[in-house]
Amino acid sequence: MSRFSRMSSLQLFVLIFCTITAIWLTMQFVVFNTCWHAAKYVPTNVQSLCQKEQNYLLLRVFEIAKGEPQCIKLLKIFEKTVNAYGSKPKIFMITPTYARPVQKAELTRLSHTILLVTNIHWIVVEDAENKTALVTNFLSKSRLPFTHLNVPTPPAMKMTKEDPNWLKPRGVLQRNLGLSWIRKHVHPDEKGVVYFADDDNTYDLDLFEEMRYTKTVSVWPVGLVGGLMVEKPIVKNGKVVGWNTLWKKDRPFPLDMAGFAVNLKLILDHPEAAFSLSVPRGYQESKLLKDLIRVDQLEPKADNCTKVLVWHTRTEYPKLKQEWKLSVPSNLHMEV
Ligand SMILES: *[C@@H]1O[C@H](CO)[C@@H](O)[C@H](O)[C@H]1NC(C)=O
Ligand SMILES: *[C@@H]1O[C@H](CO)[C@@H](O)[C@H](O)[C@H]1NC(C)=O
Repeated sequence: MSRFSRMSSLQLFVLIFCTITAIWLTMQFVVFNTCWHAAKYVPTNVQSLCQKEQNYLLLRVFEIAKGEPQCIKLLKIFEKTVNAYGSKPKIFMITPTYARPVQKAELTRLSHTILLVTNIHWIVVEDAENKTALVTNFLSKSRLPFTHLNVPTPPAMKMTKEDPNWLKPRGVLQRNLGLSWIRKHVHPDEKGVVYFADDDNTYDLDLFEEMRYTKTVSVWPVGLVGGLMVEKPIVKNGKVVGWNTLWKKDRPFPLDMAGFAVNLKLILDHPEAAFSLSVPRGYQESKLLKDLIRVDQLEPKADNCTKVLVWHTRTEYPKLKQEWKLSVPSNLHMEV
């Protein structure tokens, strides 16, 4: 009896797939190596073509190896290695979100921005007791790498109606949960940066490339916030020496959540650094940053804080006067 006939069909199957994998790895190595060396000589648009080619090959092999767990596992490890080798630092973007009429519209807009950003992982944290179907379905068709979490803000901690921002819970527990997820799941050797991106701001794509290489904590101007056209760090000789902020200007770090990013290692090295439910409004940024850094260690970005790359836009609360009069909602069985 030959060796082959003694093999079970499963063994044969594994053998075939591992052979395909080996061939593919070789092909991948050739393509990857070409890209790697080409980087020195060719313009970036050609490099990104090579990257696309790799991704295409990878997808093809996943397709072929579908249903063969050993091979899939091997390929996943390989994909990770390839990505870690050639790629830029990863952006871990934490977005707290909560149910309201404009939620899906806001998430849609934000997701379309970050679809254009490479190597980004979106951590979406719902302020809810349970994950909602709306956000679950939205994320699964978003085509983005994401993590979906949820934690409810205790009712007593929500802002009151007297507060002009009463519709917007502070996102404290949600952002902290995002940080805990990062500390638990991200490999300590991963290169990256953590950014807190609310779902209602507007982001220039350049912002992501500015923050990506943050060594400590980077800062930049934010448009349309704090009652001003722009709130910004004041920079002299490449160092932050003050702030132009007028709203609650005595804060240690008088900046907006959208105006800074933190190096991933700094987050991992300071497990105690977090936001807090017991600090006054406007002090969350200072609470986190005081745990991590001093003002003179901040890295100014956006051309020494001379450019606005993010705007604190706020969507008007929609007029739903007619809706409230209906006995049957206009969107019965329909997600808006
Ligand atoms: C959350 O899910 C649990 C378990 O399915 C359920 O008992 C509870 O009522 C849900 N809470 C809300 C607010 O929907
Ligand atoms: C920022 O300012 C410093 C000191 O003036 C200068 O060396 C550096 O090149 C500037 N950076 C940018 C991006 O303009």
